[in-house]
Amino acid sequence: MGKRIIFTGGSGKAGRHVVPYLLERGHQVLNIDLVPLDHPGVNTLAADLTDSGQAFNALSMHFGFDGLETGRGPAPVDAVVHFAAVPRILIRPDNVTFAANTVSTYNVIEAAVKLGIRKIVIASSETTYGVCFAEGDKDYHSFPLTEDYDVDPMDSYGLSKVVNEKTARAFAMRSGADIYALRIGNVIEPHEYDRFPAFIADPPSRKRNAWSYIDARDLGQIVHRCVETDGLGFQVFNAVNDTITAWEPTRPFLERWAPRTPITAEIGEFDAPISNRKIRDVLGFREEHDWRRYVPKP
Ligand SMILES: NC(=O)c1ccc[n+]([C@@H]2O[C@H](COP(=O)([O-])OP(=O)(O)OC[C@H]3O[C@@H](n4cnc5c(N)ncnc54)[C@H](O)[C@@H]3O)[C@@H](O)[C@H]2O)c1
Repeated sequence: MGKRIIFTGGSGKAGRHVVPYLLERGHQVLNIDLVPLDHPGVNTLAADLTDSGQAFNALSMHFGFDGLETGRGPAPVDAVVHFAAVPRILIRPDNVTFAANTVSTYNVIEAAVKLGIRKIVIASSETTYGVCFAEGDKDYHSFPLTEDYDVDPMDSYGLSKVVNEKTARAFAMRSGADIYALRIGNVIEPHEYDRFPAFIADPPSRKRNAWSYIDARDLGQIVHRCVETDGLGFQVFNAVNDTITAWEPTRPFLERWAPRTPITAEIGEFDAPISNRKIRDVLGFREEHDWRRYVPKP
């Protein structure tokens, strides 16, 4: 049966694909964002989630006018998906990025937990692996990148996402709610596959993304499966597609382009260096949008 889901940041690059995916699976969605999402059947409540009062209030409202019909006030919310954020460095001053992301995530999780919502999914990031926004040519410690990696970003954005994972863990311990943090890879919208030939022609250019990506629609499936899979407490999940963004197999590719990083665990022939084994094994994720479907082999 469809769930009642509050989605923050649904008007953004990822949200505008993930929200329709959730609607197609029969869920009801209220979007909370600073700007509207133009999608039928979804109301956007304009709220600034860095303000705790607005976060509490927005999480306890009707999804739309039809909510008035029962006469019993807003119906319970099954899940909150928190994607709203400053999505990278160099958009706002570093202190604003760090503060906006950590405070809004604290506010949303706290409000959800204290309002009795038992499932929260938050957007963490590949940047926690420390290379994406590093100064200079930093190496990963080891491949594959799995959820138990010692994350060590040096930038304001990646650090905010590490803090958010800790905030999620603290509230999950305190409340017993399920809080799942998705370490989302570089989000690729359907029209962006035309960038892949350039990625593939210049391997060093994709080191910062660990030669991994997530199709925005497959990210929808991951969020849907998080909403449907209960009882896991606090979890971190890499949210990426299955395979490396290269035509060559993974092991020789990494030995050539990341020679200082050891491969310390089994890695399948074309596996992405950011491992998605956990979402496949635990959530039952099955990718639908392998980049090879959209990029002609030269
Ligand atoms: N795009 C990527 O490649 C990528 C990769 C890893 C993680 N992420 C994370 O995924 C999430 C979504 O990313 P995106 O690319 O869609 O970003 P985006 O900037 O396109 O969308 C974020 C949305 O959040 C809203 N927002 C920002 N601050 C807000 C606030 N204070 N209150 C309410 N709404 C606010 C914005 O208006 C925007 O619509 C973010 O948390 C981002 O950090 C993105």
